[in-house]
Amino acid sequence: MDVMSYIESHKDQHLNELKELLRIPSVSTKSEHKPDIEHAANWVAAKLRASGMTTVEILPTGGHPMVFGEWTGAPDKPTVLFYGHYDVQPAEPLELWTSPAFEPTVRNGKLYGRGTADDKGQIHIHFAAINALMKVEGKLPVNIKVMIEGEEEVGSKNLWNFVERYRDRLKADALVVSDTSMLAKGVPSVTYGLRGLNYYQIELTAAAQDLHSGVFGGPAPNPLRILSELFAQLHDKNNHVAIPGFYKDVAPLSKVERKELNALPWKKKDFLKTVGAPGSGFHPEKGCSIVEQLWTRPTLELNGMWGGYIGEGAKTVIPAKAWAKFSTRLVPNQDPNKIAKMVEKHVRKLLPKTVKCDFEVLSMGKPWVAPFTHPYFQAAHTALEKGFGKRAVFIREGGSIPFVTQMYDTFDVPCILIGFGLPDENAHAPDEHIDLENYFGGIKAIAQFYKELGRANGHHR
Ligand code: BES
Ligand code: MN
Ligand code: MN
Repeated sequence: MDVMSYIESHKDQHLNELKELLRIPSVSTKSEHKPDIEHAANWVAAKLRASGMTTVEILPTGGHPMVFGEWTGAPDKPTVLFYGHYDVQPAEPLELWTSPAFEPTVRNGKLYGRGTADDKGQIHIHFAAINALMKVEGKLPVNIKVMIEGEEEVGSKNLWNFVERYRDRLKADALVVSDTSMLAKGVPSVTYGLRGLNYYQIELTAAAQDLHSGVFGGPAPNPLRILSELFAQLHDKNNHVAIPGFYKDVAPLSKVERKELNALPWKKKDFLKTVGAPGSGFHPEKGCSIVEQLWTRPTLELNGMWGGYIGEGAKTVIPAKAWAKFSTRLVPNQDPNKIAKMVEKHVRKLLPKTVKCDFEVLSMGKPWVAPFTHPYFQAAHTALEKGFGKRAVFIREGGSIPFVTQMYDTFDVPCILIGFGLPDENAHAPDEHIDLENYFGGIKAIAQFYKELGRANGHHR
């Protein structure tokens, strides 16, 4: 039996195995899920062992553990490092799920559940491909190191230390990641650029305690109003971020790239349908197309704000404090440190003297873009065509994966991001799902990809 027919005849087994992983609620942001995090790490380690990886370890990071596995039985072949994450975003609001978040369910050719697209379904594509190659051929076409982390969804805080500490073990000829999306159904994609992300939280204090809004209202400063006024000033009419210097280091798009990005089969209609806005449309930035705005322009987004009374009925109160969480997506060549300082300085400048502000940077991450000229990209292109029967495209994306930048900066290796999610699969939202055609096609494409790499030039660049 060849690898492709093995994959074809083991669909049910692969799907059932993925469902096991999906049932573990490994939500990294909540401490109550610490045991589930451990459980998921153990599950991944056991799976790697069972598929024949020789060294498999669960390594401590200071936060959630890293699962590291290796198979190095092909000394004259290239070595790839495959990276992904076993942690997931919280499933709330639970009542908006059609079937429960941690009870994976198939409907209409799609598998629903938290982590199906981001990222458990996608890491399992690689596990299944490795397993199939091992079972059929008794060896892998390249050396593979696997590194699956448990803190991606909380900003990969301990990753930098980890990379420094295990520098030698992480060395590889290429980084391979499946944690992104295809441009659209039927358009397999390789991603060559991601935005970076800085995440902030502020706390405004205007009084020692909550105040009766009749007894104190008028002269007493209201921190919620001050917070609203602050955020109302952070964009201008053209949807530009109104922070002096914010765009200063933004790399202009070359004519060629601009033309290529805008020629991709990206459909505005699909975007609007997925957003599902009850309003009239969207917020274009003056001077660029939506694709350019999504992938190559920075943003500042308010992610949550709270304070005061939000229970049933009315309560006449002036809150003592107000909070907001917000973030900036960054593009080449913006520097996260510089931007964080710039944002804090401007926020403090806009705030009146009537409030005290605690400003916290929760995480920082650099943007990434790289040329896709290395022969391994051709291998990815060929493999995707074999796995999906469709020509692949090269895209950039708006999301962020801190590890990609760190690897690229540390080792200067080609980073090959092959995503099998779709933009409308509700990552981070209720009813997250993965298209089963992409999941099964992904297993074939990845098995092909590792085979192609075994044939490609580019070892020891
Ligand atoms: N898989 C996503 C990143 C992604 C999604 C990249 C879609 C490209 C297309 C990842 O799990 C994620 O959600 N990252 C966070 C980063 C963060 C928590 C530092 C993000 O982008 O918000
Ligand atoms: Mn992810
Ligand atoms: Mn995510």
